[in-house]
Parts: sequence; structure tokens; C-alpha cells
Amino acid sequence: MNKTILVTGGAGFIGSNFVSCERQRNNRIINLDILTYAGNLLNLEQLNGDPDHVFIQGDIRDRELVGKLLKGRQPDAVVNLAAESHVDRSIDSPESFIQTNIIGTYHLLEEVREYWKSLPAERREQFRFLHVSTDEVYGSLGPQAPAFIESSPYAPNSPYSASKAASDHLARAYFHTFGVPTLITNCSNNYGPRQFPEKLAPLMILNAIEGKPLPIYGDGLNVRDWLYVDDHCEALHTVVEKGKPGETYNIGGRCEKTNLETVNALCALLDEMIPTSRHVPHCSLITFVEDRPGHDRRYAIDCSRIRAELGWRAKETFESGMRKTIQWYLDNPAWVHSIKTGAYREWMLRQYGAGKNEDTPQRASK
Ligand code: NAD
Ligand code: TYD
Repeated sequence: MNKTILVTGGAGFIGSNFVSCERQRNNRIINLDILTYAGNLLNLEQLNGDPDHVFIQGDIRDRELVGKLLKGRQPDAVVNLAAESHVDRSIDSPESFIQTNIIGTYHLLEEVREYWKSLPAERREQFRFLHVSTDEVYGSLGPQAPAFIESSPYAPNSPYSASKAASDHLARAYFHTFGVPTLITNCSNNYGPRQFPEKLAPLMILNAIEGKPLPIYGDGLNVRDWLYVDDHCEALHTVVEKGKPGETYNIGGRCEKTNLETVNALCALLDEMIPTSRHVPHCSLITFVEDRPGHDRRYAIDCSRIRAELGWRAKETFESGMRKTIQWYLDNPAWVHSIKTGAYREWMLRQYGAGKNEDTPQRASK
């Protein structure tokens, strides 16, 4: 049977892709998003005129609004993707991370608890609250250490991952204390269409297309595990459908790469996809800049549990997913233009430009 799902943060990167995937499955979507710099209605353009996608601009901390939405729309599931999500911004200014990721999740859980209690027994039994989290809550791995499993201890190192860890603990506690059927997923680094170009993959793709420097932090040997966003969305769907309340599922691409490998691979794909560009070979744009403070060395996710218990596995390879991603950025100049607002330029200058020239990373170039 089709479901009604309240998605928070559905105008962001993963949220907008998740909402599109769920509409393709004919689930009805109530999309609550405050539209921060990372939220963008253009991300939802493909759903214009769709009566089964309802967008509401609002804050997950607004309990009155959330309560009204739950009562009025009667969702079968809530998927919480609303968050502040960029590590560098959390280092620059942690406050909004505490507000949205911790306080916001708490308010949402409180309203969901009230709503869930009011449901008739059968619907209460079937209701799910999925809290979407990150592998970063587990901290940093040594080069030979085994990948994170669901029972790995939490050891967050940035204000971002600390705020996500706190919200995970709240979601867990609401199951154990109140019985609210919460589930938690911890996923590795995503890439794909509509990702805001402050994150590694889109930043490098757009800078390379424009012939701007590609700023690699530190020695470029930090390792991340990469997953194409649609594979993540499919995993979230699977957890809502088949996951066991109170449980955690790790999601990853089994695709560990150093940042230097990732950026070189992107450059090679760009050389092939836009061979007439005057910036070929794009890897000549790589520049090493000062490292991020507290930069986690390695993340790796062991996703055997979701594979064995729920039957999920990633469909895209790194190459096929990155190819689709680059093609999307090449095909959507209007989207790219729209996000390059004053606020984006301001961030790029603060983070990379030291008020000089946004084309030249100045973070103490080595
Ligand atoms: P994003 O920054 O692209 O989107 C977040 C969305 O949340 C935006 O649309 C924003 O407007 C909205 N939002 C922020 N504060 C809000 C509030 N108070 N009320 C309502 N809406 C609010 O982030 P993303 O990359 O799509 O990540 C979504 C979730 O997935 C986050 O919880 C993140 O921690 C998690 N995650 C992301 C990745 C990744 O690689 N991007 C990997 C693992 C987990
Ligand atoms: P990011 O996309 O910010 O994700 P996260 O920090 O959440 O993993 O960064 C991915 C990796 O790329 C991380 O090791 C930091 C590095 N990085 C750079 O080297 N240069 C950049 O300009 C950015 C944004 C990230």
C-alpha cells in the first residue's frame, strides 16, 4: 500500500533526491524544509504540479507547525533529513548545528511521540521514524583498522559530527524509553546531482569546468568511502519498509578513496567528457592548501548488515555514479547559476579566498 511520508530537509541534496525516488514509487510526500542556503526549490522543479508532493517552508524546531502537520497529514513515516551538514561551516560557526541537529531533532521527536501515541493500534505498530545520520559519528580510523560496524563506539571529532551523534542518541533513547519506532542510518559520503558545491565532489567538478584551482586540504591522503545518492535513497526506502525499530543500519559504497584519488578520477572523467576544454588536463588545476582543523583521516563503512538482513546493495560504481554526476552539472547551468549567489561567493571567499581573489585558494597554499 502507498504511504504518506513526512520528509524533513526535502529541498536539500539527499532530501530532494529521496523525495523524487519516493514519488516514483507513488508514495505521497509532505516536505518540510526551512530553505537555508543549502535548501533550494529548484531541487524540486521536477515535481512542480504534482498534487502528491506538498512543500511547506518551515523549521523542525517549530513544534506547533510540526504538530499541526502530523495531525493534519497523518503520515505513516517521518524521515528526518533536515540538518546543517557541512563540517567546515561547523568549524566556522557551530551554533546552527546545535540548534537544528540537536534541538531540532529533539522537538521533532517530541511531536512525533505525541502523534504516534494518538494513532490507532495497527497504525501505531506500522509507523516509523527514520533518523538519517552519518559515518562521521564514529570518528576517525587508522589505515589498517576494520571499517565501522553498527556497534562501533561513537567518537565524533567535529562540531558537525558531535551534533549528529547527539541527535542519534536522542533517536535511540526515544525508542528505548518511550517505544517510538525509531531507526537510525549512518551513511558514508554521498555524491550526485543537486549537491551544494561546498562539498568535495561538486566543488571540484564546478571549479574544474571553470578552470579554477582545485583546493586539496593537507596531503590529500584522507580517505572517504563514496556512495551515489540514489543508492543511499534506495537504502533509506528499504530501512523504512523492512528495518527493525530501535536498530541502526550502516550504509556505504565499499569504495574507499583518498581525496587525491577522488579528485584525479574526477579530472580524468572531465578530460574525457569535455575533451575540447582549454583546461585539459584538469588535474593541472590541483592545489594543496592548509588542512582542515581536526580533519578525520579515514572513514570506512561495513555495510554487511543492511545487505544480509534487508537485501540492499549499491547499484552504481564510483565511475558510473561520478559520470552521471558530472553530466548533471554540465546539463544544469541554470541550477549552478542560481546557487552562485552572494552568500555562496561570500562563503568561498571566507573559506578559500581570505578576501582576495575567489579564484585563488589562499588557505596558506603549500
Ligand atoms: P543539505 O545541507 O544538502 O540539506 C539539508 C536540508 O535541511 C536543506 O534543504 C535545509 O534547508 C534543511 N534544513 C536545515 N535546517 C532546517 C530546519 N531547522 N528545519 C527544516 N529544514 C532545515 O544536506 P544533505 O547532504 O542532503 O544531508 C541530509 C542529511 O543526511 C543530514 O542529516 C546529513 O547529516 C546526512 N548525511 C549526509 C551525507 C552526505 O554526504 N551529504 C552523508 C551521510 C549522511
Ligand atoms: P566534504 O565533502 O566536506 O565531506 P566530509 O568532510 O563530511 O567528509 O569533504 C570530503 C573530503 O574532502 C574531506 O576529507 C575534506 C576534503 N576536502 C578538500 O580536500 N578540499 C575541499 O575544498 C573540500 C570541501 C573538502
